[in-house]
Amino acid sequence: MEVPAGFLVVYLLFSCFVASSYGVYFSSLNETLIVTATPTQGQVLKAGEDQISVTWRFNQTYRAGTDSAYKTVKVKLCYAPISQKDRSWRKTVDLLKKDKTCPHKIVARPYTASNNSFTWTIERDIPSGVYFVRAFAFNAQDEQVAYGQTTNAHKSTNLFEIQAITGRHMSLDIASICFSAFSIVALAGFFYMEKRKAKGSQEK
Ligand SMILES: *[C@@H]1O[C@H](CO)[C@@H](O)[C@H](O)[C@H]1NC(C)=O
Ligand SMILES: *[C@@H]1O[C@H](CO)[C@@H](O)[C@H](O)[C@H]1NC(C)=O
Ligand SMILES: *[C@@H]1O[C@H](CO)[C@@H](O)[C@H](O)[C@H]1NC(C)=O
Repeated sequence: MEVPAGFLVVYLLFSCFVASSYGVYFSSLNETLIVTATPTQGQVLKAGEDQISVTWRFNQTYRAGTDSAYKTVKVKLCYAPISQKDRSWRKTVDLLKKDKTCPHKIVARPYTASNNSFTWTIERDIPSGVYFVRAFAFNAQDEQVAYGQTTNAHKSTNLFEIQAITGRHMSLDIASICFSAFSIVALAGFFYMEKRKAKGSQEK
C-alpha cells in the first residue's frame, strides 16, 4: 500500500502539535508535600554566602499510597509575584513546561516520604529578588505529579529576600564610575568657566 505524501505531512504536523500541546498544568497538582525552609518572613540573605536549609515530607492527611508513583523530588527557588512584575521572562504559566516561576534548582533527590532535608549555600549567580521555595514530585516519566511550597497559595506569606553578589558589587562599581565621570565633567566645566571668565575680563 502506498501512503500519499500529503497524508504523511499532515500526520507529522499533527503529531508535532499533539506533542507540543501536551503537558502538566500546575493547577492540576495536589499540594501533598510539606516543605519548610529556614529563612524567616522578610529575612534578607546574601547570595554566595548565606545558606538555606529545606525539609520536605509527605502530608500524611492524604491517603496512604497517594505517593506511590512519586519517584524523584526537585526542590527549587521561586520568584514571588513582586519580583515577577514587569519581567515577562519570570512569568508564571499554568502549563509547567512554560512556567518561569522557579528557574533555580536547589536539589533533586529520589523520593522518600519523610526525613528529607538539604542545606544549600545560595549560589553566586542568583539575582536579587524576593523568593520562596517549592518542591515538585515527579513520576517515572519525569512528569510533575505533586508539589509543596513554603508560601501560601497566593504566594504572599513566608517570602524572603536574596541580595545578589553582582548587584552588590556592580552598584558600587557603577557608583564609582558615575562619580569619576561626574568629577571629570565637573572639573572640565570648572576650567572652561574659569577660562571664559578670564577671557571676558581681558576683553573689557
Ligand atoms: C489530586 O487529588 C484528587 C483527590 O484526592 C485526585 O482525584 C486527583 O487525581 C489528584 N491529582 C493528581 C494530579 O494526583
Ligand atoms: C496537609 O493537608 C491537609 C489537607 O489538604 C491540609 O489541611 C493541611 O494543612 C496539610 N498539613 C500541613 C502541615 O500543611
Ligand atoms: C529520620 O532520621 C532520624 C535521624 O537520622 C532517624 O532516627 C529516624 O528513624 C528517621 N525516620 C524515618 C521515618 O526514616
